[in-house]
Amino acid sequence: MGDVSNFDVGDRDAVRAALLKWYDGARRDLPWRARPGAASDPYHVWLSEIMLQQTTVPHATPYFLSFLDRWPTVADLAAAEDGAVMAAWAGLGYYARARNLLACARVVAAAHGGRFPPSEADLRKLPGVGAYTAAAIAAIAFGEATNVVDGNVERVMSRLFAVETPLPAAKSELHALAGGFVRTDRPGDWAQALMDLGSGVCRPKTPDCANCPIAFACRAQAMGEAAGFPRRSAKVERPHRHGAVYLMWRGRRVALVRRPDKGLLGGMLGLPTSPWGDGPLSELQTQDAAPVSGAWLPAGTVNHVFTHFSLTLAVRELQLREEATGFIWMTRDEAMSALPSVFRKAFPA
Ligand code: ADE
Repeated sequence: MGDVSNFDVGDRDAVRAALLKWYDGARRDLPWRARPGAASDPYHVWLSEIMLQQTTVPHATPYFLSFLDRWPTVADLAAAEDGAVMAAWAGLGYYARARNLLACARVVAAAHGGRFPPSEADLRKLPGVGAYTAAAIAAIAFGEATNVVDGNVERVMSRLFAVETPLPAAKSELHALAGGFVRTDRPGDWAQALMDLGSGVCRPKTPDCANCPIAFACRAQAMGEAAGFPRRSAKVERPHRHGAVYLMWRGRRVALVRRPDKGLLGGMLGLPTSPWGDGPLSELQTQDAAPVSGAWLPAGTVNHVFTHFSLTLAVRELQLREEATGFIWMTRDEAMSALPSVFRKAFPA
């Protein structure tokens, strides 16, 4: 762990004091955050944390507000129709997460009398609540001194200590470093101050060290290379895959499918596709893999980069005259808000 031991506890307390002071003046005003000094509502904290696992603060905010509007308490959410919650979640991705959300609300309502259990250990037992989320809820809603570590916190720690171990191997080291700052004083504010610093100042590509309240203690900044941390393992070459994707219209509506829960884009809506393979499909294979047989016309290509591979899809389009069953039909606008971006790219501009 290099010379982390030089960073003594006095320095840690100075870093804490500087960051908390900054947070008191610069904290983002977010709808799930209690006013300074007020208690947070655990339902709000839980709901926001589940949504934010999935997406950014600006994208999650309208969903958060509309959920609270429709289901003001966890008991209201527990009593909701499954379909209504799934529909309200559309656009936030991972359908499996919406199912866990509902399962969790029902456990809290039925087994905990409508109150979230107030400890990290018991929160962790709830459906859909992982290690990060349990720590975040315990700190923010209940004031437990937990170590709340997400990607933002990993980045801040990697810079503060100039950790040379590359990610992902550095994860446990970064977790331990973050743990060195946890105190029983203001644990929720500390967790959120780190989040706000990571999102607005200690940004991934363009750190704003000139406005950083803890730059005085930051080794990466002193080395003049904050943006170079966290270190990452050399990139492995991404495999490239090929396939076809089908735009099947009936009037103004396009056919969507629900993807299997397990696997890439699990549980999300998609367009029908062929299987994906190593080389481009022949025209015959492209026609054979279509959801119905017909006069499919070429309609461009989609290129998309996933974490573990890149993908080229030949787009084929068909206007159906007869009925086709087993699909979910949406207008283009509806499909654009429900589909992951790889499928949105298949539509003509
Ligand atoms: N990202 C995840 N949780 C958050 C929170 N409570 N505040 C701001 N950003 C977050």
